[in-house]
Amino acid sequence: MKWSAALIATAALVGCKSKESAPAQTGSAAAPAQPEPPKVRPSQQPLPQLPALELPDDPKRTEKAELGHVLFFDKRLSGANDRACYSCHMNEDGNGGHDPIAIGSGDKKQTRHAPVIWNTAYFKGAWYWDGRAKTLEENATAAWGGGNMGAGKDNLAKKAAEILAIPGYKKLFDAAGLKGTPEDIAAALAEYERTLICKDTAYDKFAAGDKTALTEQQQRGLDIFLGKGQCLICHAPPFFSTAMGVDGGVFFNMGIGTDVPEDQVDIGRMKVTNNQTDWAAFKPPSLRNVTKSAPYFHNGSVAKLEDAVKIMSSGGIKNKNLNPVLADRGLNDGERADLLAFLAGLECPGKLDEPKLP
Ligand code: HEC
Ligand code: HEC
Repeated sequence: MKWSAALIATAALVGCKSKESAPAQTGSAAAPAQPEPPKVRPSQQPLPQLPALELPDDPKRTEKAELGHVLFFDKRLSGANDRACYSCHMNEDGNGGHDPIAIGSGDKKQTRHAPVIWNTAYFKGAWYWDGRAKTLEENATAAWGGGNMGAGKDNLAKKAAEILAIPGYKKLFDAAGLKGTPEDIAAALAEYERTLICKDTAYDKFAAGDKTALTEQQQRGLDIFLGKGQCLICHAPPFFSTAMGVDGGVFFNMGIGTDVPEDQVDIGRMKVTNNQTDWAAFKPPSLRNVTKSAPYFHNGSVAKLEDAVKIMSSGGIKNKNLNPVLADRGLNDGERADLLAFLAGLECPGKLDEPKLP
């Protein structure tokens, strides 16, 4: 947060300076020429690097994550044995969803698009597009018992017992010091998710000092991201979701999904807070891996990244609660191409490995 605040301040400063210097130039010819202050390209300033995830000591953390890894890939956790967590968070979709709107266990259509979950452990007190889950464990329990996995909220103890009865699982639970309750399963899934760290992207290397990691075009794109395009307000580096730096998250109405009759609009954050100001507001997702995770937005309504970027940089979609921070940034085609090139510098080098199931 400190870094991004500094960046915003700098962007504002650069903006002010050029305006203030304008009257001086139209002044009397006798006035001594003011030397132009050297232009500081935002991309060439010190850039924030991904901090290590801070976790309390837990001697069984590795074993819990190993169990969670297997569970994440196991379809037998779902209601109809037809979905694993991985089904909707797959490598080939950048680990976001494939379908515009997720299709859960039993082929039941859900209401939203699955987000990328690389670095999801950096969120604080706000998981899901509307931030309704306060912990990763709560999120895992909801994903498992709700429509996505379809195990049924009141059926989790029975499901957990079924899992524990599969030969080979007992050993994994024992190693993790867990008994096999639904809470244990959620804890193991959350622990695995804490290992899904996206770092060492081209951006991270550039921020760490390797000035060849981003191409010239990508560096121009980063200038726009941090400067003229003002993307950093909601997608601040190093997380590329400002929500990750803020306990309880941040939510904005960009107008996505509001172009339907009002009673059909997904009211997003307002469902959690009951606040009219949160009507159709959603959490900004991280843009790490965004080039690989089409389609876009909470409703998967936009298929191409260039179209998503166009909406973001031109003031969002008009509606009764559009966030006032949004404005048309006046980017031309070349600048948008630069911005897109930069976003490719956020591709995560890692992938989720398929484990051997018990
Ligand atoms: C049928 C597809 C599907 C399956 C299966 C699925 N998810 Fe998801 N996941 C989604 C969707 C859709 C959302 C967003 C829902 C919302 O915000 O209301 C989501 C959101 C999440 C998030 C929140 C990310 C964020 O940015 O806040 C996490 C973490 C997550 N899922 C983990 C899991 C885990 C763990 C499992 C298995 C127990 C799982 N998912 C199974 C579709 C799926
Ligand atoms: C005022 C806050 C705000 C600003 C400024 C902003 N965004 Fe966003 N962005 C969001 C929110 C909120 C969403 C999710 C909206 C939804 O799905 O309803 C989002 C979603 C996106 C997505 C879709 C990602 C996905 O995984 O679905 C992309 C791409 C994106 N923004 C790029 C940009 C770029 C590039 C800029 C700068 C030109 C920018 N944004 C400026 C808040 C913002």
